[in-house]
Amino acid sequence: MAEEAILGYLAKNEEIGDSGEFAAKHGLNHDEVVNVIKSLHGFRYVEAQDIKRESWVLTDEGKLYADTGSPEAQLFLAIPPEGGIPREELQIKLGPLLFKIGCAQAAKNRWVDMGGQQVTRRVQHVDDKVKDLLLKIKEGQVVDQDNIKALKARKLIVPQTWNGYSLKKGPDYAPQRKKFVADLTREMLQSGDWKNVEFKEYNFNAKGQTIEAGHLHPLNKVRHQLRMIFLQMGFEEMPTDRYVESSFWNFDALFQPQQHPARDSHDTFYLKVPSTTKELPEDYVERVKRVHESGGYGSRGYEYDWSREEANKNLLRTHTTAVSARMLYNLAQDTLKKQKPFTPKRYFSIDRVFRNEAVDRTHLAEFHQIEGLICDRGLTLGDLIGVLHDFFSRLGVSKLRFKPAYNPYTEPSMEIFSYHEGFGKWVEVGNSGMFRPEMLIPMGLPEDVRVIAWGLSLERPTMILYGYNNIRDLFGHKVDLGLIKTNPICRLGL
Ligand code: PHE
Repeated sequence: MAEEAILGYLAKNEEIGDSGEFAAKHGLNHDEVVNVIKSLHGFRYVEAQDIKRESWVLTDEGKLYADTGSPEAQLFLAIPPEGGIPREELQIKLGPLLFKIGCAQAAKNRWVDMGGQQVTRRVQHVDDKVKDLLLKIKEGQVVDQDNIKALKARKLIVPQTWNGYSLKKGPDYAPQRKKFVADLTREMLQSGDWKNVEFKEYNFNAKGQTIEAGHLHPLNKVRHQLRMIFLQMGFEEMPTDRYVESSFWNFDALFQPQQHPARDSHDTFYLKVPSTTKELPEDYVERVKRVHESGGYGSRGYEYDWSREEANKNLLRTHTTAVSARMLYNLAQDTLKKQKPFTPKRYFSIDRVFRNEAVDRTHLAEFHQIEGLICDRGLTLGDLIGVLHDFFSRLGVSKLRFKPAYNPYTEPSMEIFSYHEGFGKWVEVGNSGMFRPEMLIPMGLPEDVRVIAWGLSLERPTMILYGYNNIRDLFGHKVDLGLIKTNPICRLGL
């Protein structure tokens, strides 16, 4: 309706001077007219110029008096023409507020006499000018400044800016809006209509429909890339499906003494049911016990009474090095039992580990470890450093530094630091070392076989890559599912 009216009017007239007046004249709602103008302007059918006007609108009180009359008129009418009315009675009739305002205004207008007891009319007839003015303003008519001032002072009206437009034909004006066709149909081709219609332009900036499909979590994306790097470097993946481990494989096999603080229940989750493991390789257990208690192979051991009960306890593995220990043991068994010659191996794993830790911005009670190891005759610390440089450069990290560290199962041990360009400082990125003879020889590996190994968390590089600074945004019940759907692909090492 409004669109027809506007385009039709402009067909015969030069301009529409004021959209407000135009709306009033054609019985249209001005808001609707404004919406149509905006749309026509967008398609260049019209040229529009803003008009701003200060106008006045009625307050709630103003609206009330526009309906029921001003308090002074109501008061006047409540007074009987003859003899008047007692003050109290009048107040009860009108209510205290209306009475108060009415008295003040009526007295000012000299309409009434406020006697000590009795209120009487002073004139025979009054005009409710206030009501008339309010009605005029309500209809948008012009009211002179003195009256506006008075009504404003009585808080019956407030100013409001009115927005409208003046209009002229635009560059693409037409008396009727063209209908653009979005699709070329079979029918159009058959009838030849396609020659007469105008096609909607392609919007190459429009967003495509979001595809509902499965999405990989950032941790999975980074894990996939790391797995590719290990595979390219000739590593085999270790089976990491054993979240529940025995203390034996998690700690004892790694020459970690039974009094070690990491074995405390404050650091490790122990299982209540089943609380102990059913079987361990007995002859190997015997050799592990011996190396803890009294050493061997040039070591003094820890010189304490090793407890089988402690080794039997089930726990949630605290590191994937438990998996590495099992793999190395199996490798040694292959060599011993099947009498196969020793073959060098490169193993890796990326999977979940558990630690009984207070959860904070950078720690969770479960996280993922990346672990790599190489097992071969005569390996040295230089090989470890070289492999670490190779591995990390494939992640895009070229500057590395090493710091001596301590692990019960490695000697020497090194913490790995990398220079983070964004943070402008060296950050710890992993831990590494050469597995001790006290760990390897009881397994049955040949004495000249050395194992170099390293480990790091998957969460740390993922947080850096994806810009998370709270690990709980990445993993756990607070993770935003929307973010999982929209996170970018991961390309390490670019
Ligand atoms: N297991 C170590 C950790 O939990 C990482 C590591 C793996 C260290 C291999 C040395 C060698 O941090």
